[in-house]
Amino acid sequence: MSFPVEKVRADFPVLTREVNGLPLAYLDSAASAQKPAQVIDAEAEFYRHGYAAVHRGIHTLSAEATQRMENVRTQIGAFLNTRSPEELVFVRGTTEGINLVANSWGSDQVHAGENILISQMEHHANIVPWQMLCERVGAELRVIPLNDDGTLQLEQLDTLLDERTRLVAITQVSNVLGTENPVAEIIAKAHQVGAKVLVDGAQAVMHHQVDVQALDCDFYVFSGHKLYGPTGIGVLYVKDEILQAMPPWEGGGSMIATVSLSEGTTYARAPWRFEAGTPNTGGIIGLGAAIEYVSAIGLEAIAEYEQVLMQYALAELASVPDLKLYGPANRLGVIAFNLGKHHAYDVGSFLDNYGVAVRTGHHCAMPLMAFYQVPAMCRASLVMYNTMEEVDRLVAGLKRTHHLLG
Ligand SMILES: Cc1ncc(COP(=O)(O)O)c(C=O)c1O
Repeated sequence: MSFPVEKVRADFPVLTREVNGLPLAYLDSAASAQKPAQVIDAEAEFYRHGYAAVHRGIHTLSAEATQRMENVRTQIGAFLNTRSPEELVFVRGTTEGINLVANSWGSDQVHAGENILISQMEHHANIVPWQMLCERVGAELRVIPLNDDGTLQLEQLDTLLDERTRLVAITQVSNVLGTENPVAEIIAKAHQVGAKVLVDGAQAVMHHQVDVQALDCDFYVFSGHKLYGPTGIGVLYVKDEILQAMPPWEGGGSMIATVSLSEGTTYARAPWRFEAGTPNTGGIIGLGAAIEYVSAIGLEAIAEYEQVLMQYALAELASVPDLKLYGPANRLGVIAFNLGKHHAYDVGSFLDNYGVAVRTGHHCAMPLMAFYQVPAMCRASLVMYNTMEEVDRLVAGLKRTHHLLG
């Protein structure tokens, strides 16, 4: 059965917009995806008819809102195949989830002389919190190097991992290169030396099914806004036995059991111990709607369609003169490139004139830019609502840009 892309597009109101007098070709979903009406409406409906502060409320609206929030936790548990929904912490996004792990688990479990292993393709969100932690506790930050083709030098794992490695923090899919790392294999190797593994799933969950039990990762984190959900909401999965032993990181309301000025504070059970303050309930409900939306289409059908689109794009881009692509032959979701010697900002501006929206810059991956010795790249994202016509417009825009800039 062919993928109903036009039906999907009709659900995304913004896709009917024009930019610079031309239909919008939105190829920037890896930065943030557009939202279907189902997500926008679910959040609006909550604010219109169901809004109240969650937890502790005895009145009907509060009890209902609390139930809806916990229902989404259960829904995400099924989406990621967790053992229990209580292994899931609502956070602002991937960045906050990683900082939570670094500050809570990391400060407690990583000591001077030990090491944390990341890779050279990580987003800054999966680098800086570990640099800060290592500096704070006197640990060493180790890095799995890149190959020219955008894969990792995984044969180095045998020397990089040792009995002093406490954590491997690795992206499942690179936000620049589209490389899908063999995380299950990396997790198995890390576990052999007793290290825990955090998987950054920010660029993975929208492209295929994720099963945290099958992966056997210890931590998994993603952002709602890249999965067609609202901004300001994300999810951190932590294996229950690790989560229950983690100390709180932010203090405040909702994360306590008792507070006494003379006897101090006792804390709530996880995951609520890690959800201080009034949560982004509207965002949580929107995220629930987003997961329902992609699940109804089916992640397998989405993955199949996106692969067809990717193969088409790679074949068509081959006809653009002086176009350099970065990344392996098998890419997921994104194509990074530079056109001749032109700065990515110039190329991105020309494409914008043609109504084609691509991301330009260092993509929060400066170490990766340094590896390829470029200050910036352009990046086109291809997701379930993109079309071959949009790819054609990208290709035509690049050819015109090449012609005009020389
Ligand atoms: C691989 C990866 N990790 C982390 C992040 C950070 O996500 P957020 O800004 O939603 O916290 C991103 C966002 O671009 C990403 O692509």
